[in-house]
Amino acid sequence: MTVNEMQQEIVRLKAETDTAILVHSYQTHDIAEIADFIGDSYKLSVDAKNLSQKNILFCGVHFMAETAKMLSPEKRVFLAAKGAGCPMAEQLTAEYISSLRAEEPDRTVVAYINTTASLKAVCDVCVTSSSAVQIVKALENDKILFIPDCNLGSFVKKNVPEKDIRLVQGGCPVHAAMTVEDVKRAKTEHPDALFLVHPECKPEVTEMADYAGSTSGIIAFAKKSDAQEFIIGTELSIAEHLKYECPDKKFYPLSKGLICPDMKLTTLPDVYSALIGIRDGGAFEIEMDDEQIAKSVKCINEMIRLGG
Ligand code: 13P
Ligand code: SF4
Repeated sequence: MTVNEMQQEIVRLKAETDTAILVHSYQTHDIAEIADFIGDSYKLSVDAKNLSQKNILFCGVHFMAETAKMLSPEKRVFLAAKGAGCPMAEQLTAEYISSLRAEEPDRTVVAYINTTASLKAVCDVCVTSSSAVQIVKALENDKILFIPDCNLGSFVKKNVPEKDIRLVQGGCPVHAAMTVEDVKRAKTEHPDALFLVHPECKPEVTEMADYAGSTSGIIAFAKKSDAQEFIIGTELSIAEHLKYECPDKKFYPLSKGLICPDMKLTTLPDVYSALIGIRDGGAFEIEMDDEQIAKSVKCINEMIRLGG
């Protein structure tokens, strides 16, 4: 089957199985083309809440599909690549957060959405990279514990200096590997390019950027900007999508090393097989009981209430 034929089959199977396909922007272009919804973690959470289809197939990583399940418990939610997890989501345990809470019970615990459901269950509010600054500002409490990404946490601290924000040691191995030298090299090679970055990068890298924001924020900035060239400091797929969306502009990845191996586990044939599995049985389904959902969804709902 050619890529085109497989995409057509996927579109047919989506309708046959009454499935909506949600795609994170770190997926490849051939998957983006068959998406019902594509975007950053925040947009996909909101999209998941308002779907008419009875099944959701998520192309992304496990915590994203889990979030979709929490927001649409009456639907069956499937993940296209069973092994796709986010290493950051599993860096901390609920026991560790509970011990920090016991140490400083007056702090509001803010969890990046890149966390497991069991971690979300012991936090007060979730944030995504697009909503973190706005939500932390909106919280009544001035004392915050921000988990698990200390780089995104530093970005929030810088933008909300009036609050006392405690960080923990955690983060994204893909973004945290970017260095000041990578930025200097890219700027030397492309002196006219603006530098757009995801705030999961280290603070010294993010500080060199002309714009820092979520994957959707970076795409929107590049599309709107009058500039013609951009260095993209996040996963390679963002530069790939932008090349299709703005064929007259030039996009350079900050480094060829910006590949999230987990996001790249999903291929177009996986999406096709998952839809066959939804129809005939065998697709990887996210299973959560009502009690787990009730405990974990509170901080997602709080995020949507404060960030929407
Ligand atoms: P976004 O919320 O910007 O899509 O980021 C998700 C993510 O995993 C970034 O590494
Ligand atoms: Fe997780 Fe980093 Fe991959 Fe995003 S890029 S899913 S934070 S490992």
